[in-house]
Amino acid sequence: MVELAYLLAGVLFIVGLKGLTSPRTARRGNRIAALGMLVAIIVVIVDLIGLDAKLAWGIVLGGMVVGGGIGLLLALRVQMTDMPQLVAAFNGFGGGSSALVAAAAVVATNAVIPTETAVTTSLSLIIGAITLTGSFIAFGKLQGIVPSKQVFLPGGTATNAVIALGAVVAAGVGIFSDSATAYWIATGLAAILGVTTVLPIGGADMPVVISLLNSFSGIAAAMAGFVIGNQALIVGGALVGAAGLILTIEMAVAMNRSIPSILFSQFGGGATAEDIGTKPVNRATADDVAIALAYAERVTIVPGYGLAVAQAQHAVKDLANALEERGIEVTYAIHPVAGRMPGHMNVLLAEADVSYDLLLDLEQANPRFPQADVALIVGANDVVNPSARTDPDSPIYGMPILNVDDAKTTIVVKRSLSPGFAGIDNPLFYEDNTLMFFGDAKQALEETLVAVDAL
Ligand code: TAP
Repeated sequence: MVELAYLLAGVLFIVGLKGLTSPRTARRGNRIAALGMLVAIIVVIVDLIGLDAKLAWGIVLGGMVVGGGIGLLLALRVQMTDMPQLVAAFNGFGGGSSALVAAAAVVATNAVIPTETAVTTSLSLIIGAITLTGSFIAFGKLQGIVPSKQVFLPGGTATNAVIALGAVVAAGVGIFSDSATAYWIATGLAAILGVTTVLPIGGADMPVVISLLNSFSGIAAAMAGFVIGNQALIVGGALVGAAGLILTIEMAVAMNRSIPSILFSQFGGGATAEDIGTKPVNRATADDVAIALAYAERVTIVPGYGLAVAQAQHAVKDLANALEERGIEVTYAIHPVAGRMPGHMNVLLAEADVSYDLLLDLEQANPRFPQADVALIVGANDVVNPSARTDPDSPIYGMPILNVDDAKTTIVVKRSLSPGFAGIDNPLFYEDNTLMFFGDAKQALEETLVAVDAL
């Protein structure tokens, strides 16, 4: 019965994950996966009672109430913009718990562990400790507690390689000589490695790193599942490990970067500050933009990171409503890595009640740009940079972009000619059919709405 119940929990996790593949079914998917977790927890407890295990009920129930309470409070209070930090903290706690499960196994057995289990115990300790400290450095960077710029450590990658090797050797000693001390040294080195690996990575790369650490937390949990022989933990951990890795790879591909280049080197650096913004542009006012929009038949809005910074999702929706009332067809083109976290734009637009049907992904949006009268770019930059198509020397060359330059007119709303995440200039801004409307996205769109209404 216990094994069957674990299987049921595993199936519920998978069905839940499937639900997360579409915004429509995501809430239900989340609940189904949570139900799977509830089944797993109840089964563990019932199983232990059946085995007449001596449980410190106070600690078990107290831990559940305190942990659940903190989780509930965080989930209720977190701002949408702080979501990456929350995920980082959850990953860190997940990795830490797996390492603790393995540590308990080392203590309980006095480090005399059969070789197969000893290997998974070491992996759980090492990967769990890296995830714990790495995630909290990521959390600190996003929260502004740790400097978010790249912090270079002496020796760089070579130092990390030595620490990693030290951890592996110490774990090997632990496995073959049944030494608890060796296991603790391996864990300590892994904890240092988490810090030294994540500290040199720039704040903007954090979402990819967090996704990778998410995958690590799953692998650590699966290894802990082998240590204590718990099928649900193995299945759940493997799912998180695989899902996190797939997401990491998808993000890296959508940014045209390799995972090692994110972990071990700097993004771009192609253009120098002097190159940027020296050429003339077509400046536009709210009235110019309103006229271009109000006399269009089809408008495609391209949101980017600046929309999130300005919190302009409601302003964009209000403007879209006004255009729709004039019979103009409005759609939204969403690049897979627009913003700073997967689904960033979808979440923001959902907050403003933009219908999912109007959101087009890259493959759907690109063939439609030639029919669009206006592409209205709100705080996006890299995801509409044509150098990705045309300049083999560009650091983003090969990254699929939204071909907004195919639209009859392109309007870009941003505060200046400053570059985006990749730190490079955008030739789109200097095109003849591009209008630059400088200003904070929220304010600029609100002014545009007033101007549209006045027409
Ligand atoms: P970016 O290329 O980063 O450009 C954002 C632009 O928003 C900036 O050029 C900035 O220009 C403007 N901006 C900032 N605050 C603004 C405000 N208050 N009002 C109006 N504009 C504002 O953004 P993107 O096009 O969304 O591209 C995302 C980038 O992030 C890609 O390079 C991607 O690879 C990277 N990235 C994405 C992710 C994920 S998963 N989404 C994760 C890591 C990295 P001004 O300063 O001139 O206003």
